[in-house]
Amino acid sequence: MDLPLANFPTFETIRFHLRRAVVNDCHDLFELYSDEEVTRYLPFTPFITIDNAIDELNWYDTIFKEQSGLRWVIEDVEFKKVIGTCGFLNYEKEHHRIEIGYDLKPSYWGKGVMKEALQCIIHFAFTTMKMNKIEAKVEPANQASVKLLEKLNFYKEGVLRQHEFEKGKYVDLAILSILRSEYM
Ligand SMILES: CC(C)(COP(=O)(O)OP(=O)(O)OC[C@H]1O[C@@H](n2cnc3c(N)ncnc32)[C@H](O)[C@@H]1OP(=O)(O)O)[C@@H](O)C(=O)NCCC(=O)NCCS
Repeated sequence: MDLPLANFPTFETIRFHLRRAVVNDCHDLFELYSDEEVTRYLPFTPFITIDNAIDELNWYDTIFKEQSGLRWVIEDVEFKKVIGTCGFLNYEKEHHRIEIGYDLKPSYWGKGVMKEALQCIIHFAFTTMKMNKIEAKVEPANQASVKLLEKLNFYKEGVLRQHEFEKGKYVDLAILSILRSEYM
């Protein structure tokens, strides 16, 4: 990143903590990603073993060490449980551009959780990280995700046709983005 982030940033909202994952989160992450509803539009099949969750945690560590991204876990303050994740990946240093990603347990959907979480990290990306553009790649059928981004003032740029081969089929990906000039 432009500013090397020596310390992993954390955020607190009234209901949630956004923090760096720890090894013990593997159980909550396993629960999250073994749910077919959660992985329906993600590029992988539901987790089958706890090792899948440990690999995921290792990936979060790798992208932070490489400074190519950051993944926060979203912890419910009341129940002390990780209920989702959000973060950035595929940092393009010379273009000041980064991609956003997120997922949440279905029992928390439709309560404004992800909007609250993404508002925190988008602000961080445009201020501290000095990004110029945040982009999102979403399967057009994933209406919840498209609506969430539209509510956060992302603009739909277009559709990349049959852009990825996922779970045995080619999938289209819509590109949505928000620019620093629009955010500020
Ligand atoms: C996408 C996802 C993170 C949305 O999280 P969420 O916490 O339920 O979203 P929010 O409650 O913050 O909703 C934000 C806005 O989007 C709208 N929205 C959310 N889900 C919607 C749906 N299914 N249909 C229509 N609108 C929806 C809400 O109306 C809300 O607008 P408002 O603030 O004006 O009320 C969640 O559905 C999810 O985890 N899906 C599975 C994983 C996934 O697909 N990740 C994205 C991959 S690109």
